[in-house]
Amino acid sequence: MTDLAANSFDTPAVSAASTAPAAPALTVVVPTYNERENVRPMVKRLAVALEGIAWEVVFVDDDSPDGTAREVRAVARQDARVRLHQRIGRRGLAGACIEGILSSVAPLVAVIDADLQHDEGLLPRMFRALESDPELQLVIGSRRVASGSNGSGLSRLRAWGSGRANGVARRLLGIEAQDPMSGFFMVRRGAFNEVVLDLQKQGFKILADMLSASGGRWRVLELPYTFRPRVAGESKLDGAVTLEFLGLLLARLTGGLLPIRFILFLMVGATGVVIQLSVVRAAMALAGEGFVVAQPMGVLVAMTTNYMLNNAVTWRDRRLRGRAFLRGLFSFYAVCALGAVANIGTADATYSMLNSWIAASLAGAGIGALWNFWASLIVTWRAR
Ligand code: GDD
Ligand code: MN
Repeated sequence: MTDLAANSFDTPAVSAASTAPAAPALTVVVPTYNERENVRPMVKRLAVALEGIAWEVVFVDDDSPDGTAREVRAVARQDARVRLHQRIGRRGLAGACIEGILSSVAPLVAVIDADLQHDEGLLPRMFRALESDPELQLVIGSRRVASGSNGSGLSRLRAWGSGRANGVARRLLGIEAQDPMSGFFMVRRGAFNEVVLDLQKQGFKILADMLSASGGRWRVLELPYTFRPRVAGESKLDGAVTLEFLGLLLARLTGGLLPIRFILFLMVGATGVVIQLSVVRAAMALAGEGFVVAQPMGVLVAMTTNYMLNNAVTWRDRRLRGRAFLRGLFSFYAVCALGAVANIGTADATYSMLNSWIAASLAGAGIGALWNFWASLIVTWRAR
């Protein structure tokens, strides 16, 4: 059993020196990427809202180019309640939240966006609710109960998409809470530790993942709030985030067997098949090439588009740029070439055993995909 699984955090410290200040009762985790302008206003607002509670705030910054971390450091030097957790060479909202929560020893931990879109005025009520009811594990800042709403915080398109995603997530993941897509919540440390090993670090929607991982065992309370428009900086939600969310659903549906990254890799692979077929067809029909020339053209184009899509989506947290982009492209070609050998070898062996070309071809494709995934994970997009 890991130390996480044990509820060791809930045991009160036995012999802390009486003069040393005690650890806070509440840690507020604030994930940031390019939020420099929001750091000071955020700390000010927390100080007002959490008056009377022993709190701290941890900004988890993914080395934002706008200097967010520098700003947090400057504030933290003046205010011991402010901490910085800086990550380098990594990106991702869910992973940042997980690390921020793990960096705290407080019995209660909240997550709130840095951009002031969530209503920090709700935090004391979340805190009291958890404090007064030991059976309660999680309080969600919800746009979908009672007076809660999206306000003018989301564009019409986003609000529509958010509603659809919400319905799909709740149905597929069997979640009862009304607003699992919220990024605003407070959780009991012991409950979080029970599910943390099961959470997907890639992705945007940690709350939905947590609710799904808790398998309906948690008592959950939703408190309404109105989502506010962002003032400074810009949203990081984009097409890739939406795909990551699809990946999260599928990862959950396979019981965590397939991680989000592998699912994204398969989705990209599927586009590669379509692109390869289209290029082969176009080369034969339009350019009048024979199949012997058209097929390698198709393969080359598909490998290249696969590389670019994987770089932009599957490994967006380790995206290669500049010279590394070219080096990555050639290593990806090499990986795929070996994958093709593995594919053909497996297919041949399967064919001679089972004498079914469909089974043989699928086995080859499966082994090829696995090889390509693991090899490009280790070689092309290796963690630095
Ligand atoms: N460390 C880190 N790394 N932080 C990140 C990253 C990342 O890769 N991407 C985004 N963030 C931080 C932002 O700086 C911000 O504080 C917070 O995560 C939310 O990001 P936004 O870009 O503002 O997201 P949004 O406004 O589109 O979506 C928010 O509202 C949704 C409501 O529909 C998020 O809070 C969602 O979780 C929430 O569901
Ligand atoms: Mn936002």
